Amino acid sequence: MSELRFPDRFVWGAATAAYQIEGAARDDGRGPSIWDTFSRTPGRVFAGHTGDVACDHYHRYADDVALMAELGLGAYRFSIAWPRVQPDGTGPVNPRGLDFYDRLTDALLARGIDPIVTLYHWDLPQALGDRGGWTARETAEHFAAYATAVHARLGDRIRTWTTLNEPWCSAYLGYGSGVHAPGESDAGAAFTAVHHLLLAHGLAARALRAAGAEVVGITLNPADVRPADPDSAADAAAVRLVDGLQNRIFLDPLTGAGYPDDVLEHVSRLVEPTFVRDGDEKTIAAPIDLLGINYYTPLYVAGRPDGAGDDAFPGTERAVEFLPPTGPLTEMGWMIEPAGLTRLLVRIATDYPGLPMLITENGAAFPDARGPDGGVDDTDRIAYLDGHLRAAHAAIARGVDLRGYLVWSLLDNFEWAEGYRKRFGIVHVDYLTQRRTPKSSARWYQEVISRNGL
Ligand code: FCB
Repeated sequence: MSELRFPDRFVWGAATAAYQIEGAARDDGRGPSIWDTFSRTPGRVFAGHTGDVACDHYHRYADDVALMAELGLGAYRFSIAWPRVQPDGTGPVNPRGLDFYDRLTDALLARGIDPIVTLYHWDLPQALGDRGGWTARETAEHFAAYATAVHARLGDRIRTWTTLNEPWCSAYLGYGSGVHAPGESDAGAAFTAVHHLLLAHGLAARALRAAGAEVVGITLNPADVRPADPDSAADAAAVRLVDGLQNRIFLDPLTGAGYPDDVLEHVSRLVEPTFVRDGDEKTIAAPIDLLGINYYTPLYVAGRPDGAGDDAFPGTERAVEFLPPTGPLTEMGWMIEPAGLTRLLVRIATDYPGLPMLITENGAAFPDARGPDGGVDDTDRIAYLDGHLRAAHAAIARGVDLRGYLVWSLLDNFEWAEGYRKRFGIVHVDYLTQRRTPKSSARWYQEVISRNGL
């Protein structure tokens, strides 16, 4: 294949999230989160796995940062655990919790690695969960206060602040399908949560900006939604519905257009949207400098006006069938389609112009057999990453303002409901010894970074 070069100053990095890697669940005053509770609830997470120890990154961060430097990463996206900073989600900050992120930030900067913060990657303090979690409006206000407290401590050194990671998952998987914490199954609650998450983002974005944050953004998992049959009107309607419920419900209000009428109409069938108050849409539209995109796989849908579709997706009310993935799959059972990334980036750049984008997550789980020398020759992951980098490059060639690429993930880690059985890392983690071994993909990525291309 031909050589591809990325723009000068293209950012190369890796991403992780607090609950998935830190461990140290009770250290230094950390309070419980909804994921501690969920993972302890029998039947929720594969084999009863929890994030109690995870990759023990809380204690091993210095070695992990050294590894990032060895790989040549220019940026590292990590999330801050709200329950370390405010054990109950409100009230005075716990300085020892912030101390950890202080040490981590300094370690990164000392190695020339740009820290990219995610303020919320799903680990809501349990005390707020007990008061309704994201179905309660007050959670949005508490989030802005928490964001302000973190910025007060780290804002002198961290340039890039993102508020939420994938609010679609927090809302739909947490309150709609119940696959994620807190494990509720109520479509109305899911849409209430969407709104309060967006409100939390807007309030925090405004507060961060006022405090002097340089780059403020949010990470979404917008879907590349495709019709099963490009000539079918019913399938086109299904695309429109799913696009509304996964993409436009976030992107339109974030960019100042408010909630789309067709989406509000649909939501209203499930819950009276009285939670949207005057002025909220203005708050949500607080200007952002960066849109984080997490992309793994496309969605193929067919219209089922007879109601014979799936009910997995809150709001689609069996009017949509989600097609089973085809072709080579990752270990998550996800279809591998790099072209979906190009389509998605081009679509967002076209429909929401002027928003610089960063791929904040992309990667794949594979079985990862270890060789006799303990190494992992993960050629399938290299092929996945190579294909998606080419797809990202194609989007740039079509004029998309894409600033960088962060691989998910640096380390094998706690993959939410799947526990430790799904490995996404470019670095293998032996959970018995906590030994880190860069896989072939890590060495390949190191080479890509050093050449700024493929
Ligand atoms: C994303 C999450 C991330 C990780 C990947 C595989 O939805 O943001 O934490 O679990 O999926």
